[in-house]
Parts: sequence; structure tokens; C-alpha cells
Amino acid sequence: MRRGWWQDAIFYQIYVRSFADGDGDGVGDLGGVLKRLPHVRDLGADAIWLTPFYRSPMVDAGYDVADPRDVDPVFGTLVDADRVFERAHDLGLKVVVDVVPNHTSHESAWFAAALAAAPGSVERSRYLFRDGRGPNGAEPPNNWLSQFGGPAWTRITEPDGAFGQWYLHLYTPAQPDLNWRNLEVRSEYLSILRFWLDRGVDGFRIDVAHGLVKALGLPDVPDGVPQGWAGRLGHRLPYWDQPEVHDVYRTWRRLLDSYAGPDARIAIAEAWLPEPARLAAYTRPDELHQAFNFPYLLAGWDPDRLREVIDETLHAAGSGGVAPTRATASGGAAPNWVLGNHDVARAVTRFGGGRVGVARARAAALLELALPGSVYLYQGDELGLPEVEDLAAEVRRDPVFLRSGGRLPGRDGCRVPIPWAGHAPPFDFSAGGAPWLPQPASWAELTVEAQERDPDSTLALYRAALRIRRTHPALGVNSTSPWPTWVDGLPAGVLAFTREPGFACAVNLTDGPVSVPVPTGELLLASAPVGPVAGDRLVVPSDTTVWWSSDGRVSG
Ligand code: GLC
Repeated sequence: MRRGWWQDAIFYQIYVRSFADGDGDGVGDLGGVLKRLPHVRDLGADAIWLTPFYRSPMVDAGYDVADPRDVDPVFGTLVDADRVFERAHDLGLKVVVDVVPNHTSHESAWFAAALAAAPGSVERSRYLFRDGRGPNGAEPPNNWLSQFGGPAWTRITEPDGAFGQWYLHLYTPAQPDLNWRNLEVRSEYLSILRFWLDRGVDGFRIDVAHGLVKALGLPDVPDGVPQGWAGRLGHRLPYWDQPEVHDVYRTWRRLLDSYAGPDARIAIAEAWLPEPARLAAYTRPDELHQAFNFPYLLAGWDPDRLREVIDETLHAAGSGGVAPTRATASGGAAPNWVLGNHDVARAVTRFGGGRVGVARARAAALLELALPGSVYLYQGDELGLPEVEDLAAEVRRDPVFLRSGGRLPGRDGCRVPIPWAGHAPPFDFSAGGAPWLPQPASWAELTVEAQERDPDSTLALYRAALRIRRTHPALGVNSTSPWPTWVDGLPAGVLAFTREPGFACAVNLTDGPVSVPVPTGELLLASAPVGPVAGDRLVVPSDTTVWWSSDGRVSG
């Protein structure tokens, strides 16, 4: 049976505003993507995911879409988008684009029409307009809070000048939520998907995929249940993960399947849900292909939690403890692993920062790349970039920062433009203006150019890992017995597993060096210098992962 291309793919996330600037205005764009695509190919990735480049007032960095069928001038034109798709395909890279169905921009034609129309109109019914509570309707319709701080409702002024209805926005007021119980909304998004499928994209990353359908009656959240940024995970809230959302994705899957040629067109859910089992509902055979493995991202550098999430992930993907059924090109779930994206602090910093953070991020990369399934890499993680934590308040743009009055740092620190070459900012990110967020001078050591010269660099490690993953019979697309077997009996804090034929991976998450048993064989790759090999034992330093090639026997 043929395996779907996405099931073992390395997806490289291109955050367009921060990848490369082609026109010299300091903001990354599609021209920059076009120029730098060979970097992604040289890394050894299989696909790119492009964050939104659609027409937008950029209140939420493009996740506030005013026209989902056009490119924002800051990023280029539709012709530029076509060129990127074509060039990526020429380089052997699949193309995934974002789709933002939970909300539009307040500057979209639909929202303008809704504001101009009367309460109860067809135009308003595309969104979630409600009368307020209390005297004169002056209180919001319920107690829901925005992810970005403050109430999730904003009151409008009616066309006649009177205080009017309220509309729901789970994010900023510039992002009104759509009403997914409205059939016109559903057919509009099918048409948007068709628009991009017809231009040749291979798939979609679905923004806020678990949020589209709200509980009927929009009930209050019980007192004491965290909401907003603090409530992104954990609790069942009336706006997350409602059963009816799955009907939407069944329809989307039928559309995607109708476009499948020799290769499937796919969709990936962004759903911040705490348990792999709940995420798995999004990847039932007639729904989406993948849902980002955020439980893995959130597991931290904790051996017990990592092992637990890995087991839960593999179990949810269908093993149930036995070898899974391999899926066909158009069906079946596959596990995936995520360590970063444009919404979370960079892995190096999450893992402790400094040398320790870099060591752990390198070790974590080799761990995830040794597991079965696909991997989503966030641009710059292959360079070991840290979070930029000291951005001045004046340069920060993220509404999480702005709307919390600076109480929450927000997400700008992981969105600082990529350092490509040279000794000083803008490090060839832009040929002209200053980058939209300033780059630290210390990134001179972390440029692609500098790391290409250094065989021990994080970039060199990623390239080697992806090369081995492509060729080793137990890894990636080559693997025929894809489920890892844990090696037990090792010191607490060491995670080790084997994959057949002849591959072993060991991760030392303890504070000191550990001597681990190894079978006859050879070291394939290590995230830091290891050794010596003494007899059948290998010394693995703290915060280090090793890949070992063996004849299949692992002692110990
Ligand atoms: C998703 C995006 C994030 C955006 C939010 C609202 O979580 O990844 O960047 O702010 O949706 O669209």
C-alpha cells in the first residue's frame, strides 16, 4: 500500500514576514521566499507551510484576513504566490498554505456589509451578533473573554447612530468570529479552498481549527474556569472543540479527496487541545490528515512527560500497542512532532536558554526526528535561534503584548527576522530597510552563512539528521516497521528506543554523563560530542541525543 507523502514529511514553516525580504522594505515577502527556497531544499525538508500572505490590515500579523483570495501588497501579488508554488514544486517541495476560517478581518467586505445591515439580517447572520444584557443592552451578551485580553465582545454603533448589538471576537476586535452554523459561511470557505487548490497548493494549515463552531445558545463559562491566554488549554470551554466542528472537516476532506491526483491534498488542524486522544478525533479517516502535536511541544524537557506524550501520541495514531495499519495516500492518521511555531517562545529559550537551552534544543530535535511520523520545523529552529526577550516595548507589535498592557510578553520574540549572512543586522534578511523587528547583534554567529562553515553548528546537525532520516532503512519514509520499542532498565532520566532495522536512539535528560549499553555498530549522529565507546558502553553527556546504527540487537 502506498504511504501518503505527508505521513513522514518534514514540514518547514515559513513565517513570511520574517523569512526574507525581497523588496527592501524591512518586511519579509513572497519575493524573499522565492529567493531563499533553496535553503529549505538544502536542509532536506519535504514541504513548506506558508503563514498568511493574504490581504490584511495586519492587526494580528495577517491572521486578520480582509480578502482570502488576494495577496497583501506588503507580501507581493498573486503572481508572486504562483511563482513561489511553482518554484517550490520544481525543488521537490510540497506547499501548504494557511486558511483562517474562524474569523475574518473587520475590514472584510462581509463585515462591512454586516455593520451596514440591520440586526437579524442575512449579512449579520454570517457573524455572531447578539443584543447585550442588562439595562439598554450595555453588558456583553455573555462572559466569554478574548484570547488576547478583555471581553470577547465589542459593541457597535448601528447605522442610525444608536448604541447597537455586540459581535463576538475570540481574538482582537479586528477579528470578528464567523457563524459556522450558517451554510453560506460553509460554502464560502469551500470556495476559498478551491481557489487555492486550483492554483496548485498541496494542503492547508487550518487556523484555530477547534474553534469554528460555538456551543448553541453561547452559554456563559462557569466561574473560576480560566479563559483568555491562560485558558488556551485544559478546560472544556463552550467555544472550543464542539462536536459539530467535525462536520465541517468531513466536507473539507471530501473536497480535498476530489482534488487528489497521484498525491493527496491534505489539511492540518491547529487545535490547542491537551490530550492526544481529543486531537485524534480531528484525524479520523474521513476528516483531516493531521493535527499539530502540541502536547509534545508542551511536554518540556521532562523525561517522564516526554515518554508519556510519545506513548499517547503513538497510541492515538492507531497503534493501540500493536503495529498500526499503514494508511493509504488518502486516508489514515500519522503521528507528528512539533517543537516550535510563531506563537510560542523558541525551544532554545523554553528549554532553559544559553548553552543548556541550545544543547537541549539540539537533543530534542534528534529525538523528534527519530520518531515515526512527520515533523513540523519552525524557521530558525534549524539555526538554534533563541527567543529575543529584550525587544523594546515600542517595537513590539503582537496584540497579546499590546492588549495586555505589556503584562504578557507576546509572540514577537520568536518572530524576529532570520539572519542569513554578514556580520551585522539586517544579516542579509533585507537589502534595504531595517527589519520590522530588530535582530540582536549577537546573531552574527548564528547566520546561515556562519553555520554553513561550522561542521558542529545546529544547521549542520539538522542537515545531517535529515540526510540520515532520508536514507536509513528504519527512519522516515523508508521505515517498514515504524513503531519504536522502548529500551528499559536504563538510569532514570534516559530515554532510549530502537527501531527496526538496526537503529537506536538514546537521550540523556539527566544532569550528568550516563554510560549506556550499545550493541555492535556505530555512531550515526550525536547532538554533542560523545564517547568514548568502551566495550559495549557509550558515555552520553547531559542533554544529548545519540543515533546509533546496529545490527538490531540492543543489550541492557
Ligand atoms: C492562531 C495563529 C495565531 C493567531 C490566532 C488568531 O493561533 O497561529 O498566530 O494569532 O490563530 O488567528
